[in-house]
Amino acid sequence: MKLTVIGTGYLGATHAAAMAELGHEVLGIDTDSSKVARLNAGEVPFFEPGLPELSQRNLQAGRLRFTTSYDEIGAFGEVHFICVGTPQRKGSNAADLSYVHGSVDALIPVLQAGSVVVGKSTVPAGTAAGIAQQVQAAGGDLVWNPEFLREGFAVADTLTPDRVVLGAESDRAIKVMHDVYARILESGTPLIVTDFATAELVKVAANSFLATKISFINAMAEVCEATGADVTQLATALSHDERIGGKFLHAGLGFGGGCLPKDIRAFIARAEELGVDQAVEFLKEIDAINLRRRARMIDLARQLCSGTLAGMRVGVLGAAFKPNSDDIRDSPALDVAAAIQREGAAVRVYDPEAMANARISFPALAYSSSAAEACADADVVLHLTEWSEFRTMHPSVLSDVVRQRNIVDGRNALDRDLWRSEGWVYRALGRQ
Ligand code: UDX
Repeated sequence: MKLTVIGTGYLGATHAAAMAELGHEVLGIDTDSSKVARLNAGEVPFFEPGLPELSQRNLQAGRLRFTTSYDEIGAFGEVHFICVGTPQRKGSNAADLSYVHGSVDALIPVLQAGSVVVGKSTVPAGTAAGIAQQVQAAGGDLVWNPEFLREGFAVADTLTPDRVVLGAESDRAIKVMHDVYARILESGTPLIVTDFATAELVKVAANSFLATKISFINAMAEVCEATGADVTQLATALSHDERIGGKFLHAGLGFGGGCLPKDIRAFIARAEELGVDQAVEFLKEIDAINLRRRARMIDLARQLCSGTLAGMRVGVLGAAFKPNSDDIRDSPALDVAAAIQREGAAVRVYDPEAMANARISFPALAYSSSAAEACADADVVLHLTEWSEFRTMHPSVLSDVVRQRNIVDGRNALDRDLWRSEGWVYRALGRQ
């Protein structure tokens, strides 16, 4: 089939390459011509394991191409995927839908009758119904097909998703989607066909649940800190109950990134508009718990520096919002690093992949090209993103370069006993 993908960020670039991998002919579009040139040359403009290989293989096979021209995608495709971003609106909790509406407005004049438009962007409930009217007036049909991919696992999550959700009003459009995803569905992937509002809500409800799980265990971490209990052992004990499970019960610095924080805020904003704000009032507390972990991290760093961070040297390990990603959107690590610098500390940051992005967004922080360099003469080391490079690093790599052997493990991912046995003062979130 001939498919187009509008927007080539994490979602769109991965979706385009994955659809080509399924055997379709795919044309991706982005308004950023330098990005399009890089993608056509087989470069992926962000760090995502396995994606460069997938893109290159399909570019070479002639199934994948990128353009900046809407005229070209209108003439090319019978199915158009909308994969543009819906960031948090400035000065508000609500989602900024300008990229979604902008791409639909640009697509409609070139849409061929009988085409299917597929929304994958995360949008507030009620958005699809409005877009459906526009698409129908142009002779096409709309499907809402939320995406659940995790950065770092985007390729696998797209090619072998947990489930496929299709919100639609037209049987014809559902049939077309069966053809698009034939290989995925034939392997037994659960399919949920529903209305637009449910499809839109599945995504925000899923992200709200995941955020709730993380903030739940982080709330328990606060209680553990007050009682001397150990949140990591608590989580392990909870995880043996199959109804609870162990995933997303990792206590630490909390969630960040381009999805969970803004999606729960957009959900709160939309629920207020719908008059059901009480139903998601708890998400405000989920957000607050999450942000309190960052404050606690700074408190622990201050405690290890005898009560003040002013004039101290702080080595920061990690800048990305999570390992295996170079994404720094709402990164807890950089938020903490910047706050500590504002308290008068000299902060040096090292991250295996996210340095280029961090430098652009946080130009006032200092950066180093290795963990040892970032921690040179440090009074305290902060472990903020649990890259395997840090998890597997022997303390001796840092022992002789730091001024004081103080470390705060913001991700409960280091071997506490090992660090202590090497003479370090080890502190963590939610345990002694
Ligand atoms: C998330 C959802 O998982 C995905 O389904 C959705 O499509 C987009 O949002 P992503 O933002 O890539 O994906 O990251 P995820 O792996 O979910 O992690 C989110 C944040 O939570 C990270 O900052 C991570 O460090 C943190 N986290 C995760 C925890 O603090 N504890 C955990 O137990 C799990």
